[in-house]
Amino acid sequence: MSLPLSPRTPVVSLRVMELRDIPAVVHLHRINLSQGFFVELGDKFLSRYYRTFLTSPAAVALIAEVDGERAGFLVGCTDAAVHHRHVIRLERWRLARAGATSLLLRPALTAKFMRTRAQRYTRGLKRAREHAPAGTAESRRTGVLSHIAIRDDLRRHGVGRALVTAFVNIAKVHGVERLQLQAAADNTAAQRFYEDLGWKQDAEIQDPDDKSWISYVLDPR
Ligand SMILES: CC(C)(COP(=O)(O)OP(=O)(O)OC[C@H]1O[C@@H](n2cnc3c(N)ncnc32)[C@H](O)[C@@H]1OP(=O)(O)O)[C@@H](O)C(=O)NCCC(=O)NCCS
Repeated sequence: MSLPLSPRTPVVSLRVMELRDIPAVVHLHRINLSQGFFVELGDKFLSRYYRTFLTSPAAVALIAEVDGERAGFLVGCTDAAVHHRHVIRLERWRLARAGATSLLLRPALTAKFMRTRAQRYTRGLKRAREHAPAGTAESRRTGVLSHIAIRDDLRRHGVGRALVTAFVNIAKVHGVERLQLQAAADNTAAQRFYEDLGWKQDAEIQDPDDKSWISYVLDPR
């Protein structure tokens, strides 16, 4: 699909993300979304993580191109419960292997993982095994915008807007009633971006590293 924007902006075209895009997406993630634990786990883990968005039946993974070159990407899902179940059931060992390999090479990161995440992940896995309904009425309606990043030399040209608009339209087609995302509390540029696109602030939350995040919601209908 091609979205001609305004005369001052280049033409942005969107397509579905493919396996060959993963190295570029991982690179964009590492330099633009550098603060997460996943980045600390390294590119192999990130690469495995992004593959889950190519295999999940509920995932949306888009690439934006400008003049035939990758300009940015967006990943998310139209059903958080289905996507989560897919990751737990079909991808957990591959992800765990990639994560464990990385932890084995980094003792300090292993200590951090044990301190901040091990219990939570174990509880999550147990919950997922014990309660695996085929999607509750509530979960079927909730989608998540997980990550978006645009090349810094192509920002403020409507590329991010094109990606988010496409994601919201896909969610609408899937009957999603609530979309969620989180932006770092110190990422005021992203907050302005989402607010400009109609997302509403919902709550402020702390992650296991005590970093603050603002959650945003949008009704795509
Ligand atoms: C946030 C981000 C995705 C925006 O992408 P983008 O392609 O530059 O955004 P757009 O050009 O589509 O902007 C749409 C509107 O959002 C707002 N906006 C975007 N960037 C903004 C900024 N830095 N400051 C203030 N408003 C901004 C503006 O209202 C803009 O419209 P305008 O340019 O006509 O004024 C991009 O800056 C990015 O990749 N940042 C690094 C990664 C990141 O923070 N991702 C989000 C994590 S939650």
